[in-house]
Amino acid sequence: MKKIRVGIIFGGKSGEHEVSIISAQSVLKAINKTKYEVVPIFINKKGQWQIDFGRKKLERKSSNYIYLLPDPTKKELVSKDKIKFNQGKIDVFFPLVHGTYGEDGSIQGLLELAGLPYVGAGIAASATGMDKDLMKKIFRSEGLPITKHLVLLRKDLRLNQQRFTKMIEAELTYPIFVKPANLGSSVGITKAHTRAELVQGLKVASEYDRKLIVEQGIDKAREIEVAVLGNDELETSVGGEIVPSKEFYDYEDKYILGKAKLIIPAPIRKNISDKIRKMAKTAFKSIDCSGMARVDFLIYPKTNEVYIVEINTNPGFTAISIYPKLWEASGVSYLKLIDRLIILAMERYNDKLQTKTEFPSKLLKNESF
Ligand SMILES: Nc1ncnc2c1ncn2[C@@H]1O[C@H](COP(=O)(O)OP(=O)(O)O)[C@@H](O)[C@H]1O
Ligand SMILES: [Mg+2]
Repeated sequence: MKKIRVGIIFGGKSGEHEVSIISAQSVLKAINKTKYEVVPIFINKKGQWQIDFGRKKLERKSSNYIYLLPDPTKKELVSKDKIKFNQGKIDVFFPLVHGTYGEDGSIQGLLELAGLPYVGAGIAASATGMDKDLMKKIFRSEGLPITKHLVLLRKDLRLNQQRFTKMIEAELTYPIFVKPANLGSSVGITKAHTRAELVQGLKVASEYDRKLIVEQGIDKAREIEVAVLGNDELETSVGGEIVPSKEFYDYEDKYILGKAKLIIPAPIRKNISDKIRKMAKTAFKSIDCSGMARVDFLIYPKTNEVYIVEINTNPGFTAISIYPKLWEASGVSYLKLIDRLIILAMERYNDKLQTKTEFPSKLLKNESF
C-alpha cells in the first residue's frame, strides 16, 4: 500500500518556536511509519522555511531556504528556486506551529490557497482562537462565562499610560492578569498584584502584541482543561486539572520546571465536569473549529463558578502534552490520535471540495478585462 505523505510544519516565527519543535519531534517519533511517510518542514525564527530537517542539526545555510508558492492547479506548494521541495506530492499537512504565524490562520491560508488538506482548524477558527479579544467576544455571544476584562491598544497606552492604569484599577481588582492578545504558552503574561507590577506587565505585553488583554484574576482558581476532537460530530475527553507549582501556570511552569501537576481525571464533581465538557463543545463550535482543540477553564473554588479562559486550536502536541494525555486517559492513544486527526483533515477537505467556487455570471461579456 502506498504510504500517505504527511508534511509536518514546525518551528515558526513565534514565541512558542521551541515548544513547536518538541511537538514535531514527538509526532515524528510516534507516527506509524508503515502507514505514513513524514516530510519535516522547519520554519526558523525569521520565518524562513527549510527542508531536510532531522539529519544533523536545525541550523541550515541560507542556500537551503526554500520559498514556496501555492499552486492550486497542481495542489502543491512549489519552490521557485532550484531546491526541489521534496520529490513528489504531500498528501496532507500537519501544522504544528504554535502561536503567531502558524496557529493564527496564516499557514492555514497558504495551504488553502494551494488547495491542500491539513490537520486542525481552518483560517477563521485559527485566527479567532488565537486572538483572546475576538475569542472572548464570540464566547460571550454564545453565553459562555468569561472573566471581566479590558482590551487596550499599545499605541493608546504609550500615549497616556497613567489614564489607562487608573481606568484598569477602577474596573478590576488585584490580582490582574495582563496578556498579549495573540500569543500562548503564557509568553508575555503577568499576574499583577500592585500598580507597579501592572505598569511593568503592560510594558512586557506591549512588546509582544499591538493589542493587550487586561483581565480580572480569579484568585486561587482551579484550572481544568478538556480536549475536543472532531469536525461536526464532537467528542470530549475527561477533564484534567492543572496544579501549577508557581502562582500561576507560566512559561517556566509549563515547560521548564516540570513541577506542575496534571491530575487526570480532574477531581471535580460529575455535574461540574459535565458542564465543562458541554461548554468545551460550545466553545469549539462557536469559533467554527475543526480537528482538535483544547479548551481551558477556571473554577472559583468558593462558589464553584466556572469561567472559560481560552480555546487552543493547535495545543502543545508532544506525547506528554496535556492534549494527548487527556485523550490517552479517555481511551485514545497518541498513535491513534495522530491517525484520527489525519482522517479528520481529509474528511474536512473532501467536504470542502463539494463547495462550488464558480457562479455562472454574465457580468463580463468576454474573457478579456
Ligand atoms: N483570569 C485569570 N485568573 C487566574 N488565572 C489566570 C487568569 N488568566 C490566566 N490565568 C493563568 O495564566 C495562565 C495562562 O493564561 P492563558 O490565558 O491561558 O494564556 P496562554 O494562551 O498563554 O496559555 C493560565 O493557565 C492560568 O494559570
Ligand atoms: Mg492557556
